[in-house]
Amino acid sequence: MSDGDSSQPRATPDLQLIGGLAAEDAIGPVMHIMQQAFDPVYGEAWNHSQTRSMLAMPLTHVLLLETVATSADAPGEPVGFAMTRRVADEEELLLIAVAPKWRQFGAATMLLNQVIDNARKAGVSRIHLEMRSNNPAVHLYSKFGFQTVGLRKDYYRGSDNHRFDALTLAIHL
Ligand SMILES: CC(C)(COP(=O)(O)OP(=O)(O)OC[C@H]1O[C@@H](n2cnc3c(N)ncnc32)[C@H](O)[C@@H]1OP(=O)(O)O)[C@@H](O)C(=O)NCCC(=O)NCCS
Repeated sequence: MSDGDSSQPRATPDLQLIGGLAAEDAIGPVMHIMQQAFDPVYGEAWNHSQTRSMLAMPLTHVLLLETVATSADAPGEPVGFAMTRRVADEEELLLIAVAPKWRQFGAATMLLNQVIDNARKAGVSRIHLEMRSNNPAVHLYSKFGFQTVGLRKDYYRGSDNHRFDALTLAIHL
């Protein structure tokens, strides 16, 4: 994502997608984004120990989107991540999140495009996910053709013990 003309001021920095990170390298940037991205009211975010356990599983993959470092003093900044778990020819999108300052800029679209591309190349036939029923992230998923295939009552427990339903969405590749 480059403006392609170094003589002009940049509207946005270059971004890079990074896959194949070891759990110990992924946990820092993933938690950095997680803590900003999810409103605790809805109980969707994972804590450090849940995230660490999931990242340690061999079937879990993280795709990280970050700004490209411009110098030793300006290292890459985490922008967003997608976490998936693949079992045979089925993939679950466990989480996708973008830090608030990077929203509405195509970051989640970049992540999801890459998730789908990787899944296709690996022979995955279906991707599914759970999403809080009133989460505006539905706009992102519909853009990619995900459809609602199920409802889980009271799936999320929010910060005041309030329960929120989840929708199951899926796409066939
Ligand atoms: C959902 C989320 C990942 C979207 O990230 P993003 O980088 O802003 O998304 P994009 O810029 O790629 O937008 C993709 C499309 O969805 C739409 N969209 C994204 N967020 C939206 C919102 N809150 N309301 C309405 N539309 C929205 C965009 O307008 C865009 O559509 P367009 O291409 O027709 O303009 C981000 O808002 C987020 O991290 N939310 C909190 C975590 C979360 O709920 N994750 C999903 C469940 S795991």
